[in-house]
Amino acid sequence: MADGYDSLAQECRSLLSDSSPTVSKMANFSALVFHSVPEINWCGFYLAQHECLSLGPFQGRVACTQIEFGKGVCGTAARERRTLLVDDVDQFPGHIVCDAASRSELVIPLVAANTLLGVFDVDAPVPGRFGPEDQQGFEGLIDIFIDMTQAENLARLAAAN
Ligand code: SME
Repeated sequence: MADGYDSLAQECRSLLSDSSPTVSKMANFSALVFHSVPEINWCGFYLAQHECLSLGPFQGRVACTQIEFGKGVCGTAARERRTLLVDDVDQFPGHIVCDAASRSELVIPLVAANTLLGVFDVDAPVPGRFGPEDQQGFEGLIDIFIDMTQAENLARLAAAN
């Protein structure tokens, strides 16, 4: 949905342009993604602190609250500071099951000024849901999110965990 990501990027810019607290923007960003991107069953933030990720604002079923760096898809993306696109979560060693319906997953790290602030995780109930277009689309959305929330606010939020 290349067109879709372009218009979603515009909606994001307008949604994030007010002066509300960063946590409110994270909540609304998750809601916008959840209700705009087809065929996903979970999306949300994990915030990094001391080699651990803590659950942040999200949409979907209840999820695990703490993930160590290096564990699961989220912890691996955090440790390696790179986007991970997993076609079949059952084939990913150490995948952490939160919603048993999840079959594929895309995790984008949030990095600002060379600091890892957390990750944004998207799950889908079908295998192979995400392709390079989705990776590019979500990386663009996260760039906008970082730009429009001031990285230091996000870092403060992570440190408050
Ligand atoms: N599946 C993730 C855990 C987080 S949830 O899917 C919300 C993982 O393996 O890191």
